[in-house]
Amino acid sequence: MTAEVRQAATLVVANIGQLVTADPRLPAPGVIEDAVLAASGDRIVYAGRASEFDIPTLPDTMEVDARGAAVIPGFVDSHTHLVWLGDRAGEYALRAEGASYEEIAARGGGIRSTVAATAAGSLDELVDAARERARRMFQLGTTTVEVKSGYGQTHAAELRQLQAARALNAEPGLPEVVTTYLPLHGSVDGDRAEYLDGVLRDGLSAASRLAGFVDCFCETGAWSVDECERLFTAGRSHGLRAKIHAEQRSRSGGAALAARVGAVSADHLEHASDEDLRALAAAGVTGVLLPGASLVLGGPPPPGRRLLEAGATVALATDCNPGTCWSESMPLMVSLAVATAGLPPAQALLAATAGGAAALGLTDRGRLLPGLRCHALVLETDDWLDVGYHLGANPVARVISGGRILPTV
Ligand code: NIG
Ligand code: FE
Repeated sequence: MTAEVRQAATLVVANIGQLVTADPRLPAPGVIEDAVLAASGDRIVYAGRASEFDIPTLPDTMEVDARGAAVIPGFVDSHTHLVWLGDRAGEYALRAEGASYEEIAARGGGIRSTVAATAAGSLDELVDAARERARRMFQLGTTTVEVKSGYGQTHAAELRQLQAARALNAEPGLPEVVTTYLPLHGSVDGDRAEYLDGVLRDGLSAASRLAGFVDCFCETGAWSVDECERLFTAGRSHGLRAKIHAEQRSRSGGAALAARVGAVSADHLEHASDEDLRALAAAGVTGVLLPGASLVLGGPPPPGRRLLEAGATVALATDCNPGTCWSESMPLMVSLAVATAGLPPAQALLAATAGGAAALGLTDRGRLLPGLRCHALVLETDDWLDVGYHLGANPVARVISGGRILPTV
């Protein structure tokens, strides 16, 4: 242990029945029983057995008695479209009557209808709408959230969405925000080649000051492999790493593209072949499962077990958006990943924490290990399995973010 991690603790969580560390050296998900978690400032200084806890404390060290409850890493929700105005409840009802996502989009609904409602919104309106969703996420244990643009279609509107997402970062009681520029999402009014040229010429450089990633919806009827590859190639020269909506509605070539360009993640993947998944694993691309969107739209299940078998890193996210999955709940995604994607519960929990961090290229969170940022959840229950087992519930009693216990109301 280094001198740095032996400094006095500012937060001590004692009497932890099960500490889920996500430590890869332990059997998944890395449980230590009768444990203590301690932080100094925003960093973890101890995550281990209570009997070996020897970090000094100070008179003003914050002490929390977990009373035997389980403690897990804060959730990392690595794929959301949090900034939108308007709603698409009508489409929800139409789909229940048999209309498909593609038919609704062809009639001018879908992503385009959210663009119409969102692009005209002021920055304040966007921030207010996104804040409510981010607050619900935090209450449900999400301590880091990725937020995409994608409902702008003009550069100004796309950038405003990124600004709105970043504005949330300054507010306590909300998840930390990571931003992704998603200029190729729904179909556009006017000439698409001209639009793409504008994105490559002006959009990427402006977005690179507001986002760390660039994303596209690679799908028959949306954006082609070729168009997405041009976006990624140009994005790389602006320091933007690639993420991709791939093989969601049909096998369109997005997974192979992700492997070819070394994307940080490939998301959805319901229609990916085993060969695609092996290519992702070989290229070190994290596969992001979005079982909420998959459940809502129907079709093949998310390839959780197949990704594991291919040897890929697996993440789990809400895809929170007004069209295919309005859910802020990572615990629900854990339940769905087990029920529909074939992930064992331990792997589902890892996918929602360490896997999410991998999908965002973050090495400083997602596990409870000394030296990492202290984002942790004290649960209502003494068994981490209840996160997925108790369907539709909120298992979170207290959220620790950046080494501080934050109110979740
Ligand atoms: O991840 N597939 C494309 N994008 C979103 C849906 C966005 C929308 O319908 O508004 C998704 O499912
Ligand atoms: Fe999405």
